[in-house]
Amino acid sequence: MTEGRKRIVSGMRSTGKLHLGHYFGVLANWKKLQNEYDSFFFIADWHALTTKFDSTETLADNVYNVALDWLSCGIDPNKSTIYVQSYVPQIAQLHIYLSMITPQNWVERDPTLKDMARALREGGHNDSQISYGLLGYPVLMTADIMMFNANYVPVGIDQVPHVELSRDIVRRFNNIYKTDFFVEPEPLLTQIPLMKGVDGNKMGKSFNNDIKISDDEKTTEKKIMSAITDRSRLRRDDPGHPEDCEVVYDYWKIFDSEEKVKEIDSLCRKGEIGCAQCKRELAQKVNEMLAPIRAKRKELENNPKLVKEILLEGSNKAQKEAQIILDKVKEVVRMY
Ligand code: TRP
Ligand code: SF4
Repeated sequence: MTEGRKRIVSGMRSTGKLHLGHYFGVLANWKKLQNEYDSFFFIADWHALTTKFDSTETLADNVYNVALDWLSCGIDPNKSTIYVQSYVPQIAQLHIYLSMITPQNWVERDPTLKDMARALREGGHNDSQISYGLLGYPVLMTADIMMFNANYVPVGIDQVPHVELSRDIVRRFNNIYKTDFFVEPEPLLTQIPLMKGVDGNKMGKSFNNDIKISDDEKTTEKKIMSAITDRSRLRRDDPGHPEDCEVVYDYWKIFDSEEKVKEIDSLCRKGEIGCAQCKRELAQKVNEMLAPIRAKRKELENNPKLVKEILLEGSNKAQKEAQIILDKVKEVVRMY
């Protein structure tokens, strides 16, 4: 930890093996940020419980898989503090204090939370699936952030309402307990290239359209070969329209140079490359880029003890820091 650097906290729910959307949307960014900020990255297993409290059989495994993906993508325990939320019980205590001061209607207004509740109902769940804990989702997030007095919270645009609410809760805490110790965190928005799934919809494992970091090369190729391309192209030498080929052409833009994209563009328009060949070449490129990450992952898979040690060590480090803040919280609340 270098003194004087601004601090960031961010987390990811432990939902299982991560895909390329996570890589380009989050991990590539964290990997950069860890060189510039005092970084705290954690696996949000309590947040996973807010919606998955009744299917916990994969919970611990998911945490482990997320850790494997992070580490193989270059989130570095020597640069960042990497931990598991539930290994830092101070966060739960802070959550209690924050839950007392957060007006009920503040959480009820949170648009991201409303979306989550709506998605649950549309997924066939009834109201009993929408728990008290789920309502506290943004309050728990505030505890995650305030626990380390973070200045910035790197998140995607969908999480911004939560962070705004966190600012409000921290400000209210400071006002009620007459302190200016706790930092009002700001979202750190990144221009994230939205990575579509191979079917053109949002990439997600529930849609089975995702390319996992941990997929093997064959599976990756198969998934890319299944992508829809310019539908007006019937024969291999029909002139194509890259702008109507949202998946494959967009992937080229993410995975290769501007020059290569221009080349594909021109070959496609002239009908000089077939879609099958284009996709096969793309798959090769994707596999090439993922090769070192996958090799690292394999290495770590063979050493589960090391991965668990990294999580424990990071969590211990986080606990030490968290305890200092928790003591400060108890002092200003006048618990003793
Ligand atoms: N809610 C975030 C997500 O679903 C994960 C998260 C939990 C988080 N606590 C956080 C992100 C604190 C930033 C800061 O992506
Ligand atoms: Fe898309 Fe490539 Fe087919 Fe052109 S050749 S339509 S870019 S898959």
